[in-house]
Amino acid sequence: MKIKTASRPGSDTHIGFVLKGDMKNAIKDFEAEKDTITVRYKGKRTVIYCGLGERTECTSRTIRAAAAAGIKKAAELKRKAVSVLDTPVDCRSDACARAAIEGALLGAYSFSKYKSKKPAAVTGIEFVTKEISSQEANDIFRLCRAAWYTRDLVNDNASVTTPEHLAAEARAIAADKSVSVEILDERAIRKKGLGLLWAVGKGSPYPPRLALMEYKGDPSSKRKIAVVGKGITFDSGGQNLKPSGHIETMRCDMAGAAAVLGLMRALTSLKPKLNVVGVITCAHNAVGSNAYFPGDVYTSYAGTNVEITNTDAEGRLALADAFAYVQKHYRPSHVIDLATLTGSVVMALGDTVAGLFANSDALAQSLYHAGEKTGERLWRLPLYEEHSESMKSDHADLRNTSKLKRGYAGSITAAAFLKEFVGKKVSWAHIDIAGTAFNEGEARGEVPKYGTGFGVRLLWEYLTA
Ligand code: BES
Ligand code: ZN
Ligand code: ZN
Repeated sequence: MKIKTASRPGSDTHIGFVLKGDMKNAIKDFEAEKDTITVRYKGKRTVIYCGLGERTECTSRTIRAAAAAGIKKAAELKRKAVSVLDTPVDCRSDACARAAIEGALLGAYSFSKYKSKKPAAVTGIEFVTKEISSQEANDIFRLCRAAWYTRDLVNDNASVTTPEHLAAEARAIAADKSVSVEILDERAIRKKGLGLLWAVGKGSPYPPRLALMEYKGDPSSKRKIAVVGKGITFDSGGQNLKPSGHIETMRCDMAGAAAVLGLMRALTSLKPKLNVVGVITCAHNAVGSNAYFPGDVYTSYAGTNVEITNTDAEGRLALADAFAYVQKHYRPSHVIDLATLTGSVVMALGDTVAGLFANSDALAQSLYHAGEKTGERLWRLPLYEEHSESMKSDHADLRNTSKLKRGYAGSITAAAFLKEFVGKKVSWAHIDIAGTAFNEGEARGEVPKYGTGFGVRLLWEYLTA
């Protein structure tokens, strides 16, 4: 893909935006309702008009989705080079231009590795706008490319994106001078006492890995943010095996780790003045005679003993050891984790909004706003003492599933478990992306089917706002 900005369209295929009721720019027989498109041919030129609906309801979100629809139409018409025109005068700003660029780039994505006949794709996009510099457009391109990379990782086979593979990706990211990397292999995980990550990974021929990437863009600042991603490369459920209907998509269970890798890629590519530690906690939750057993107790890196009440609640175990390790060795001021942690969050918020939990109102607020801005939306859920209470074990210190009735507050109690592994002075937020990371339905707007890349732009926005 090649992109540029221009002051005048240079290609024969244009993508234009139309507001409903905009008499001056109206297109014959086109109402310009939101999510509608019409294609017009004018001599050599093809114009794809995307409806934006009413001016009063048109937001960045509308424009992002419209631009994505426009680019998909262009691909369908087998166009290679496309000019994306400015948004209408009535809604023209740098935010609108940004949304159009993001929408077009995110919408241009397709995963065709396993298609013998590759679908037609747009290979060059020109953005005709004065609202944004070519430098800014290029930065957006770099960020969207990082989201594509995250999508690619989530979409590929679980037998390809193994813990070792993800750790190798971390190492590759650290080829950039701005990033250093530490990788714990299965021996180190066991020897150093990351007993929970070890328990989750031990049943698999694909051994576990913990990878930590440190990006030091601002040595003068004490602010250091650790971003931790759940990297369960396949979640079979373990001995508490998942049934058909729930297991088929479980290669997506490393989407948090994939988003962290995407974010680190964006950092090396865009070099902001920040300090970030990216952590991926990777294991294959296998079923088999070497897999960990329900009822057993394992000791975490933090020293807490955890009774395994369900081997399918593995993500919190992998995260707990990663939290303890990164806090001890990297001393971050903030910890933010991204995890496809619970089915319950899908029940509560569906597949377009992620669950947000935090021990800091300020951090929750900032993340919420980043979500509104990027379209990767978050909604905060509570965390109270009774939830923490329900995670106490009679047999050991903690249990990995709650004592509450089956199905009660599943996302909250998972977050309550994680909270036990966060230091009192650390600002922490947990983002449950089980619903948003993997789209089982049809593509909508800039969100493709399957891996969505959720979290990369959100975290970038939070970090750089
Ligand atoms: N990886 C799953 C959560 C998940 C569900 C992700 C649907 C994506 C889509 C997680 O490890 C899990 O199995 N959670 C259990 C926890 C339960 C055993 C307490 C759940 O949510 O059912
Ligand atoms: Zn599970
Ligand atoms: Zn899982």
